[in-house]
Amino acid sequence: MTAGMRSVAQRQHLASGQDSDVFIRSDGLLVKHTRTGRDLRREAEMMVYLSGHGIPVPRVHDVTGDELVMQYVPGPRMSEEIGRRPWLAGSLGKQLADLHHQLDAVEAPDFLAGDGNLLHLDLHPGNVVLGPEGPVVLDWASATKGDRRLDVALSWVSLAVARLAPVRKLTRWRFLRSFMANVDPKAREAIPEAARIRLERHDRDPLERAALQKLMDPDRH
Ligand SMILES: Nc1ncnc2c1ncn2[C@@H]1O[C@H](COP(=O)(O)OP(=O)(O)O)[C@@H](O)[C@H]1O
Ligand SMILES: [Mg+2]
Repeated sequence: MTAGMRSVAQRQHLASGQDSDVFIRSDGLLVKHTRTGRDLRREAEMMVYLSGHGIPVPRVHDVTGDELVMQYVPGPRMSEEIGRRPWLAGSLGKQLADLHHQLDAVEAPDFLAGDGNLLHLDLHPGNVVLGPEGPVVLDWASATKGDRRLDVALSWVSLAVARLAPVRKLTRWRFLRSFMANVDPKAREAIPEAARIRLERHDRDPLERAALQKLMDPDRH
């Protein structure tokens, strides 16, 4: 058996995201494997850059084209924590706002194309792990340059249009209210653009598409 085969055999499936499958290796490290053939080296480069600038991200160990090996951060995702401890919704909303403020302070790296400040573009509670040393931001695949207010608006939009059971809607509202109270109020102006980006990005179910289309119409809010 080759070393490569052994590492495939001895890993446990942890999660599958929008475009990747995530495994835990027997040495405790996490492997993110892309299903779409996207080059993960850019994501790794981004994470190394961010670590160097004090942003909490998993430590990168190794990267090939389609596999990124990184530190496994144990803990619930912020999205899970909102569900399990709804009374914390307000403080979790503020925590997400604080992560945006940390990003506000980081200059975008030269290797990203375009103009403007650093944007994650998918900073929703499902991409934040509440680790033993605090929140850690995952999934830097969409990172780009632009107006920071757009990044904040995307966080708002991705949670606002998610389909939830009625009992969860009050919790969501408390989370979003606290989030918006702790960010630049002008971020609201970027909501139509954020909805457009989200609509383009992935296949969405019809109800979510309708909600996003409503948000794209600026006369509605
Ligand atoms: N370093 C990590 N530590 C702990 N969990 C992780 C880590 N990286 C990914 N995950 C888990 O795997 C899921 C998918 O990873 P993610 O990078 O978000 O992939 P995708 O781009 O497919 O959404 C995450 O939502 C999270 O649950
Ligand atoms: Mg993800």
